[in-house]
Amino acid sequence: MFEKGQSTPEEYPGNCEPEALLEGRSLIVVSNRGPASFSRDEDGTVKIQRGGGGLVTALLGLAKSVDISWIAAAIGDLEKEWGWGEVEIGENGRTIDLHLIPIDEDIYNGYYNVISNPLLWFIQHSMWDFVSGPNINRDTWKAWDQGYAEANRKFAQTVAQHIKAAPGRSLVMLQDYHLYLLPRMLRRLMRRTRRSRKVTLTHFVHIPWPGSEELRILPSRMRKEILDGLCAVDLLGFQTREDVLNFLQSVESHLPGTSVNYKHRRVWYRNHATIVCNFPISIDVPAIKEMAGSPETQQQRTQFEEMIKGQQLILRVDRTDPSKNIVRGFQSFGEMLELHPEHHGKVKFIALLVPSRLDVDEYHDYHNKIMAAAGWVNSQFGTSEWEPIRVMIGENYPGAVAALQLYDVLLVNSIADGMNLVAKEGPVVNQRDGVLVLSERTGASEQLESGALVISPCDIYATAEALHQALTMSDEERKIRANRLRWLVEENDIVDWFCKQIKEIGKFGY
Ligand code: F6P
Repeated sequence: MFEKGQSTPEEYPGNCEPEALLEGRSLIVVSNRGPASFSRDEDGTVKIQRGGGGLVTALLGLAKSVDISWIAAAIGDLEKEWGWGEVEIGENGRTIDLHLIPIDEDIYNGYYNVISNPLLWFIQHSMWDFVSGPNINRDTWKAWDQGYAEANRKFAQTVAQHIKAAPGRSLVMLQDYHLYLLPRMLRRLMRRTRRSRKVTLTHFVHIPWPGSEELRILPSRMRKEILDGLCAVDLLGFQTREDVLNFLQSVESHLPGTSVNYKHRRVWYRNHATIVCNFPISIDVPAIKEMAGSPETQQQRTQFEEMIKGQQLILRVDRTDPSKNIVRGFQSFGEMLELHPEHHGKVKFIALLVPSRLDVDEYHDYHNKIMAAAGWVNSQFGTSEWEPIRVMIGENYPGAVAALQLYDVLLVNSIADGMNLVAKEGPVVNQRDGVLVLSERTGASEQLESGALVISPCDIYATAEALHQALTMSDEERKIRANRLRWLVEENDIVDWFCKQIKEIGKFGY
């Protein structure tokens, strides 16, 4: 039986050259959010920039070494106007063939704002308070059938077109929880076409997979449709060993007609085998180092240095997502200031926060709670000379990289997190032997716990003490821990994540 703690998948010997491993297959990446963000300049010209978020950060690294067709939803009007074409993202002039699918507003709202976030996101991050939610009513079912399923169908149709247009074999890599129904729909569309044998289908779930009991919160039809969809892929990837085990148990409990082999991490269903493995996602190490040395980042670094004025820096960089546990982070900082007054005036907590999913009530409310929690700490402990917490809202990737170079303590205290790439970016660019305070409920903790101070995310007192321990740690211990973290991340970057998946499917002849 495959158990927590056992190391999987096996070590993968040999080189990691994405292009060679693809053996001529066309690579099609599919995700809800595309890799580019579109905006209009003051003079009216359309500006295309690299998008944010963990998934995009990770996958863009791949575009440097292989040709990618990327299919995503057209979210705003500018994206709808864009449609389909080559887009240059990043510094090295390589382009991505980007196809943005227009989706009606009603469909998109049900798919994204009702089902994906909050329903699935909250279940997969154990965030529902079951006494008050989720309330699955007629509107939720409508959003399921006419939003989530409909958007997945549109994606499946577009992917099928791309597969048919590709000259040879295709590798389709589906991403995340927005697209659970797509694989089965795609298989149906491809059935009886000559291309169907020439497609390898993978799906990578970037967020935690809940225990099978927790999945029971979803009505039986929803959970069966999700599991049925995912069992149509050849390779199903998760971030951690625990996610893999939870998925295998979920299938066994909730999807009749399956046969689960825990030892070989395989599910048999409808005469098809799905391999289920963990592939911890990572970052593009050379790219973030390059960004760290860029003039823009250096300039922003000077601004942060002026803001810190010789104080120690506690930093967090997050989307304003309740799963990130930002409020408890501020409460822990307040608790530390109460328990250890020697830090007053000598430390600053900077929170770089990117607004997220504000059309969803739970996110909108959380945004307000964040500001209130920071305001409370500042009012309790701040003076005319000292502002304990500075909250900076907005998307600014070079700014984030600049601040990551300067932290003494990086706080990542998520309630639950598939991986958390900030915990990997920080140690690679930080120049102060900064200490990582890391929630045990992040995927990153499975890899980084030996270098981090690991905390339980609801334990405000322990988090306060960990912040104090980090701020007062000896230089020698800081160095040892920082070196260990850097090494752990650099040894397993995004290219490894990709290559491990391709090698795994190669082993099974897909
Ligand atoms: O895997 C989680 C994820 O999809 C990541 O890509 C990213 O961090 C975030 O969620 C993006 O969320 P959204 O596209 O809803 O802003």
